Amino acid sequence: MGTGFSLRVLPSGDGQIDLAREVRAGLTAARKQLPCRFFYDAAGSRIFEEICALEEYYLTRAEDEILARHAADIVAAVAPTAVLVELGSGAATKTRRLLDAHRRRGGNPGFAMVDISSSALEGSARVLRAEFPALSVEGIAAEYEDGIDLLAAEKRTPWLVLWLGSNVGNLDRDAAGRFLGRVRARLGRDDRFLLGVDRRKEKSVLERAYDDASGVTARFNFNLFTRIDRELGGHFAGAAFRHIALYDEAAGRVEMHLESLVDQVVRVDALELDVRFARGERIHTEDSYKYSDAEVRELGRAAGFRVERTYTDSDARFLSVLFAPE
Ligand code: AVI
Repeated sequence: MGTGFSLRVLPSGDGQIDLAREVRAGLTAARKQLPCRFFYDAAGSRIFEEICALEEYYLTRAEDEILARHAADIVAAVAPTAVLVELGSGAATKTRRLLDAHRRRGGNPGFAMVDISSSALEGSARVLRAEFPALSVEGIAAEYEDGIDLLAAEKRTPWLVLWLGSNVGNLDRDAAGRFLGRVRARLGRDDRFLLGVDRRKEKSVLERAYDDASGVTARFNFNLFTRIDRELGGHFAGAAFRHIALYDEAAGRVEMHLESLVDQVVRVDALELDVRFARGERIHTEDSYKYSDAEVRELGRAAGFRVERTYTDSDARFLSVLFAPE
């Protein structure tokens, strides 16, 4: 890997989500829903940064505390020649901890990230290269699997793969298992996989984290309507909805919804669609799965990993799991 920043955009990168198709399918379904990847346009990504700084949204702080304390121990699990490979590019602050620890032991100044958005990759690369001028950053704009495949075909050194921020939580448990299996298939004996997961905990703590007092998460959720209005000529701006976040304890997931406060019809011009809502009817916009320690262990085991180490924060809210190929 040379110095500087290189970016490759694969066919699955920067792909316009087929917004029109997804909105039509989601808003005409018997149980209305919109995909959560829809949140992250430029405005949504900025609101998500605000969420990460909220007092109620403990996840980011907890994971950062773990990495601040244990980065040296984590990177010691791979050879100094290892390259750090991150799935997603939004976690520059936390990633910095690991890059710094790796650098301090004379490790490879190489870092690769895979993200669907090339502008997100460019943003993270800018931040990281300002702090680590010698770091060569490779960005692959693609779906995770396509990006990992490309990197795996060129792999010369061990990898420490990072999937932080409880991003795994936005997949249902089966999809998470399948995805871990695919990551495992690309790893060899000397590679490691660091997964950040949010632990199961009291309902009140979880519901506050996804329905904060200052209404930032509500704004994040409502940004879906702003997007539909702007990009598809929707008329949600004047409509009456509220944001809700509910923890389903049995399923171990926080669900976010937008709930209609009245009987109403909302027009989406570009789809020539009138969407009818009954009072109390909801659009399901996100699931965020939480894990017990045993569930994470099993998730990894089923995918062909063993737990090498686990780390938690001082309030025991978040778990960073270092997996090794079995
Ligand atoms: C990105 N993801 C892990 C966040 C979560 O906690 O599920 C997204 C989020 N939704 C509401 N707040 C944060």
